[in-house]
Amino acid sequence: MIEYNHYRGSIYHCFESGGEVEPIYIEDGLMVVDVDSGKIVEVGAFNELFSKWPNANSSNHFKDSLIMPGFIDTHVHYPQYKVIASYGTSLLDWLNKYTFIEEQKFCDEAYASKVADLFLDELIKNGTTTAMTFCTSYKQSVDIFFTAAEKKNLRMIAGKVMMDRNAPEGLCDNSDDSYFDSKELIEKWHNKGRMSYAVTPRFAPTSSSEQLKQAAKLLDEYSDTNGNKGLLMQTHLNENIDEIEWVKELFPDSKNYFDVYDSFNLSGTNSVFGHCIYNTDEEYKRIADSGSKVSLCPRSNLFLGSGLFEVDKLEAFGIDFALASDVGGGDSFSMFQVMNEAYKICRLNDYNLDPVKAFYLTTLAAAKVLNMEDHIGNFDSNKEADFIVIDLKATELIKNKLETSNNISDILFNLMTLGDDRLIKEVYILGQNIYKKKEA
Ligand code: GUN
Ligand code: ZN
Repeated sequence: MIEYNHYRGSIYHCFESGGEVEPIYIEDGLMVVDVDSGKIVEVGAFNELFSKWPNANSSNHFKDSLIMPGFIDTHVHYPQYKVIASYGTSLLDWLNKYTFIEEQKFCDEAYASKVADLFLDELIKNGTTTAMTFCTSYKQSVDIFFTAAEKKNLRMIAGKVMMDRNAPEGLCDNSDDSYFDSKELIEKWHNKGRMSYAVTPRFAPTSSSEQLKQAAKLLDEYSDTNGNKGLLMQTHLNENIDEIEWVKELFPDSKNYFDVYDSFNLSGTNSVFGHCIYNTDEEYKRIADSGSKVSLCPRSNLFLGSGLFEVDKLEAFGIDFALASDVGGGDSFSMFQVMNEAYKICRLNDYNLDPVKAFYLTTLAAAKVLNMEDHIGNFDSNKEADFIVIDLKATELIKNKLETSNNISDILFNLMTLGDDRLIKEVYILGQNIYKKKEA
């Protein structure tokens, strides 16, 4: 006999129709989950569904709460868990002064394992149920990450950083090792349960041309087959002015920064480019034409003083994009707080990031950027039941502010402005509870 779990409460998610984001808010909703598969059977109004589901009356009933799809963080660095909040410098300096130092500690497997667990716990307590993460150049750091994620049954994407120059010797691989180590990890982890592999050249300055070729070779060798989506590719692009100047010196024959990746066949529908603050129109056009995706990292861009991205440009060129924390450049794991800063960056560019779109960019749009919209991102039937329960009375201020909110748009805007991990009351993975916030 098939067994079902029932969850009752206010439910919010969104879908897309004709290129528009359509919000769905059900004030008294019911979600039905197949216990065995952990997939959503249906979601609808409680009073319309309860007669069909005899056990619905004994549902888990979440009062003063909002049930939503788990957040999806499209660009983050798990080894930078302790780099977060490092003082006072800009990207290239910050990499040398803090990041490359910390990442060298991940040759110690016990250390890597401890941080992987801390990182995943922090994601979960912030309501992030899927992330695409950079690891370090040590292959064990990837193995350890996937092992930890698999134990918690999380849908995760990760990859070994490929980096063969312009970094401390201890962190540099060489292009052959990098290729074979990545290949070994792909064979072991890609499409194993909920794990996916992303080819991960850190950024153009730390890879030789030979290494970029090897990265493209991996993408080619594991391209989409038999309905299996191929490997993703993650890297950085146009984040910082000094970085861009450096790329010009290192790749004098390239038309622009994006062209470095593009000319090595690292662009395309499986490729996700972090930051993209300083894209030229020519680069936006090639990103769009190649079907490449973009991950925006507002908190990192403000924290490192990198610059202000332009959402209107991404939209005008028809590029798929989503939001990301970019911890440790970013200073918060909370996707509420990522949306908050995205909103402010948009304001500085005279663009209003409406709350329905902001939540779309941390759920369904993020799933699309990761080619995972068939599995996660909203509550369509047959998607995986990774969801969060938001406490609408988590803080005195939020509780009082929400008394003034007249519709779901207002509620969402208040949550993304005032919210953080305190709001995450419970987290469910494939319909199973894995986190309950401790009562204060
Ligand atoms: N560019 C190359 N590596 C990094 C990194 O670790 N963080 C950020 N924000 N940018 C990068
Ligand atoms: Zn990054």
